[in-house]
Amino acid sequence: MTAHAASLAEEISGSIASAPNSTTAMERAVHILKTKRPNYSWVGIYLLEGDELVLGPFLGKPSPHTRIPLNRGICGAAASQKQTITVDDVNSDPRYLACSIETKSEIVVPIMDGDRVLGEIDIDSDKHAAFGDDDRALLEKIAGALAKKLRT
Ligand code: SME
Repeated sequence: MTAHAASLAEEISGSIASAPNSTTAMERAVHILKTKRPNYSWVGIYLLEGDELVLGPFLGKPSPHTRIPLNRGICGAAASQKQTITVDDVNSDPRYLACSIETKSEIVVPIMDGDRVLGEIDIDSDKHAAFGDDDRALLEKIAGALAKKLRT
């Protein structure tokens, strides 16, 4: 991770750990990411409820996809595979569920408690191929911090 991403990961992890509850922890993570990463056009957290991902805190344009079944979208794929998915060009990915016409790339990072999916961090960018290894490392660290708050 770059020094900038590492210090951001520390800042967000601390902010999550000190939050009074899981909703505030998610809101803080979304807010800091949206503010500090200029390419992050839409930042949201989905929580797994049964077989559906339900949209929780987010910043950016309202999404039509407030509930996503596990077999749909890049969001569903990431939760089903229990792995981070990065898509450089959303318009060439048949799984993609459009949220905004401006979106060009997307990263979805599952929030895991061991082998159990609790939810995921979903980020869209208006820039093509906006998400690299640094973003992935940063967001997986934050997903780990959120998992500790969500599993209790
Ligand atoms: N693009 C996502 C849907 C969620 S919106 O981006 C907020 C997907 O393909 O699952």
